[in-house]
Amino acid sequence: MSVVRRFADAEGVSRAAAEEFAELAVEAVARSGRFTVALSGGSTPQRLYERLAEPPHRERVPWDRVEVFWGDERAVAPDHPDSNARLAVAVLLSRVPIPPEGIHRIHAERADREAAAREYQEEIARVFGLPADGPAPALDLVLLGLGADGHTASLFPGSAALAESRRWVVSHFVPALGAERITLTPPILNRAREVRVLVTGADKAGALRAVLHGPRAPERCPAQLIQPESGRLVWLVDRGA
Ligand code: 6PG
Repeated sequence: MSVVRRFADAEGVSRAAAEEFAELAVEAVARSGRFTVALSGGSTPQRLYERLAEPPHRERVPWDRVEVFWGDERAVAPDHPDSNARLAVAVLLSRVPIPPEGIHRIHAERADREAAAREYQEEIARVFGLPADGPAPALDLVLLGLGADGHTASLFPGSAALAESRRWVVSHFVPALGAERITLTPPILNRAREVRVLVTGADKAGALRAVLHGPRAPERCPAQLIQPESGRLVWLVDRGA
């Protein structure tokens, strides 16, 4: 079941997303003693991350109980301008009292990205206390964005990761980018309790329409693969999208 919440502008999307993040974090910690979240990359979530580092959310989120993962990462060093981890650390994680051991970065800068993907899956499994070769764990929250080509995380049209049905994390070459990416896969993304996709800007309108109302064509529109098994999927979109 997916819900679309529309806001006047990107600020409205970021404000609502920050509210939901904080609420879900408090609920998860009350329920299980911790909050496990996969952050989205790209530029859309920057304002959300900034808001989470400011009052009231900075004080509201139980940062010492938060386990932060990423939905995907580029094959660059963590201080590279394109790094998804760099952005989140700069505008959020370096400004809130989250213990370093609660930050689980994807080491996509490593030459052996297959090993990096395998080890990331092992790290997720360790945090959840699960075997790394079994069913994927249920993250409390997955944040995602949407590309103008219908991709989400690093699940790009026509890429090998779309068909992954067992592994939770894969490294693959993305022809459209001419670059390698490491990404969470539908098996783990669709186990999440809560998924929030943030979409802003007129350049995303076509992709959003295709995902929500177009014919089922996940090869061409990978974001259609995001169908939580039992979790809730909410699209937070601005008027432009
Ligand atoms: C990435 C993201 C990617 C992103 C979309 C939207 O690593 O780029 O994971 O899926 O969410 O490409 O990007 P923008 O928010 O920059 O439009």
